[in-house]
Amino acid sequence: MMNLKYINNNTIETINSYISGPNVMILTDSNIFGYYRALIEDKKYLVLPPGEQTKSLATAEKVIDKMSEMGCSRETLLIGFGGGVICDLTGFVAATFKRGIEHGFIATSIIAQADAALGGKNAVNISRKKNLMGTFKMPKFVLCPINLLKTLPADEKINGMAEVIKTALIGSKQLLEELGNPPENWQKNYSFLFKTIQKCGIIKMGIVERDPFDRGERRILNFGHTLGHAIETVYGLKHGYAVALGMVHVLKLTSTHSSLDYSTVTQVEKILKKFGLPIEYDYDMDKVLAAIPNDRKTKDGSVRYICLIHSKPSKETINPDKSEFTLESTEGNTIKETKFDISSIDDEVDNEVVTTKPYEPTVKLQKQVLEEPKDRKPKPKKKNKSKEKISFSKSVENLKKEYPRFDDSKDLDKQYTEINM
Ligand SMILES: NC(=O)c1ccc[n+]([C@@H]2O[C@H](COP(=O)([O-])OP(=O)(O)OC[C@H]3O[C@@H](n4cnc5c(N)ncnc54)[C@H](O)[C@@H]3O)[C@@H](O)[C@H]2O)c1
Repeated sequence: MMNLKYINNNTIETINSYISGPNVMILTDSNIFGYYRALIEDKKYLVLPPGEQTKSLATAEKVIDKMSEMGCSRETLLIGFGGGVICDLTGFVAATFKRGIEHGFIATSIIAQADAALGGKNAVNISRKKNLMGTFKMPKFVLCPINLLKTLPADEKINGMAEVIKTALIGSKQLLEELGNPPENWQKNYSFLFKTIQKCGIIKMGIVERDPFDRGERRILNFGHTLGHAIETVYGLKHGYAVALGMVHVLKLTSTHSSLDYSTVTQVEKILKKFGLPIEYDYDMDKVLAAIPNDRKTKDGSVRYICLIHSKPSKETINPDKSEFTLESTEGNTIKETKFDISSIDDEVDNEVVTTKPYEPTVKLQKQVLEEPKDRKPKPKKKNKSKEKISFSKSVENLKKEYPRFDDSKDLDKQYTEINM
């Protein structure tokens, strides 16, 4: 049974209650450590460089080696405290350290809280190929403290909204409509973020519960990712920015080759723009296509995309007694504890599903259909650090100097921080 919990109050106490066990080992990155050191410095932990480069087999090997030196055993509970990179790596290490140990997540980014920490998929990248090696392993718990998003840089918030929009597109017409009308200062509206991200979690877990091993319906979660991952790999774009571009392309393709009304393309483009996400980028389609793995292509080289088609609302019901996770959530001072039941969730957020069926037409990519106009080339915006701080953050600037961001040109070993307790 996995416990999924979204909180927006009592953050420190709640996190403490999750990480206070005797055999806890925490993996985090230097950005998170910079802000939240006080929470974990009396625990056993490893601080890794931030960024996609950390999601590698080399890092996993080093972490496993350090964990062994630090006395971790099969009884250790490994906790990933961070964004999607830390979650994916933590799950991978937990699945392989001494043939598997228990793990949990304190998810700190929108991507992690809405998507990456949920569902038990973990992976590392191999030879710059995304998620080539990984396992399925459900975490014991996922704690999503929405308050921690206060330190998430503005561009990472924008980045995270791509997965949120994707989830709305595949799972809830109502959520999609809400996203079409976000509050003005959405990045700092934590009540909006709480509700939106939690809905994504509910939608994702419903899909995962119906198809835990990604054999059918769950593939819909990869919507926008086939092209998105390739763009991310070739251009080093952030995951969400690349997925936004991937979604727009597939929507256009589906509208050209299948039954999707073009108004959906326009609607999604408008929503992406409202959240500051790119809808076009002057990428080289040949390079991008070459980066798409062969298992996403047919023998003749055509790319198989996950596409959206309109379908009737789905009302699949899960027997709550057989449900494999509980959902808890705090709103204000109230704590709700709900045994997950997709039928009741349907009534709340998912009444009119835009589409639920994965649909994979074999569409020959036609460059003339997909190529971006050359006159408009919006680039992802430059990093703009969030000015908001959480009260227990300690001299952040000094810590940031102490734990600089990952620099690809330097040896991983030199940047790898180990703290033995
Ligand atoms: N396993 C899955 O199902 C799944 C689903 C979606 C995405 N992913 C993976 O997730 C990764 C992207 O996730 P991400 O964008 O969270 O990446 P990330 O972990 O690199 O986080 C993005 C940046 O934000 C910083 N950060 C995170 N939380 C913070 C906070 N609260 N305060 C300050 N800084 C913070 C990180 O240090 C990092 O610099 C990709 O590798 C993607 O493949 C996995």
